[in-house]
Amino acid sequence: MKIKIKVPATSANLGPGFDALGLALDLWNETEFTPADTFSLRIEGEGAERLAPNPRNLIVRSMQKVYDAAGKQMPALEIHCLNRIPLGAGLGSSAAAIITGLLAANALLDSFLSNDEILNLATEIEGHPDNVAPALMGGLVVSTMNEGEVIGHKIVGTSHDSSLHVTIVVPDFHFPTKQARAVLPKHVPMKDAIHNISRAVLVTEALHDGDLDLLAKVMDDTLHQPYRLPLIPGAREAMDAAKQAGAAAALSGAGPSLIAFASKRDSGIGSAMKREFESAGLSTRVFELGVSEEGAKVERK
Ligand code: HSE
Repeated sequence: MKIKIKVPATSANLGPGFDALGLALDLWNETEFTPADTFSLRIEGEGAERLAPNPRNLIVRSMQKVYDAAGKQMPALEIHCLNRIPLGAGLGSSAAAIITGLLAANALLDSFLSNDEILNLATEIEGHPDNVAPALMGGLVVSTMNEGEVIGHKIVGTSHDSSLHVTIVVPDFHFPTKQARAVLPKHVPMKDAIHNISRAVLVTEALHDGDLDLLAKVMDDTLHQPYRLPLIPGAREAMDAAKQAGAAAALSGAGPSLIAFASKRDSGIGSAMKREFESAGLSTRVFELGVSEEGAKVERK
């Protein structure tokens, strides 16, 4: 049996929802798994020149976790990845690889794990749930850890598709999540926590209602962006440019990309942001995307 797994890009944090909010975007990695006599891995598209086509690949390591849990030997497979999610950009490329591997192995093992078990295992591999949860479930997902288990709650969107347009700006800058997490403080003032708690709730409401005016007022954050933005050349200026162009903007995940929401498709937002990154010396790509209400898909052929 041949299996195809499709997993969407995700943008985590969404401003004040640090490690809690994540949104699935309409940009998909597709991976095909075909039974074979020997292992092979072919990678096309984003990151093809950087990703090692061997069993240490994150997709394969994630598959191995499911086979280990099942106490079974992983079969030889021909794996073909078509990657559209930029690597190390803050768009959930590693979450997509993890979910791809877990779902592929699970399909080959006749759904040995439940969706909740997949979400927990994915979070354990990734270290935080806010990309893997929307990659699996689609849409806007709020996640938290409770007694070692992930709670992933999808906020069912009513108006995402029609009233919110997403621009993602990806500067060519190496800013690994590990480094982006290491620069954060261990303790924060109570007023910063309060600032973020209230705004994170309002961000979910604004995205659910498609209320861009509210979103623009509440996307500001005190827990991670003030520490990360100064380390990414041009990021602060690009965020200001998005706001001046009428968008609500934030770091996408840990960066270095930025995400901007607008009520209509407006290429001026991406151009204004790109200009600022390029003034800081970084070549930059712009993606205009929709939100994906659908999460990862498994096709059996
Ligand atoms: N919530 C995580 C962080 C997302 O900001 O570090 C990383 O992709």
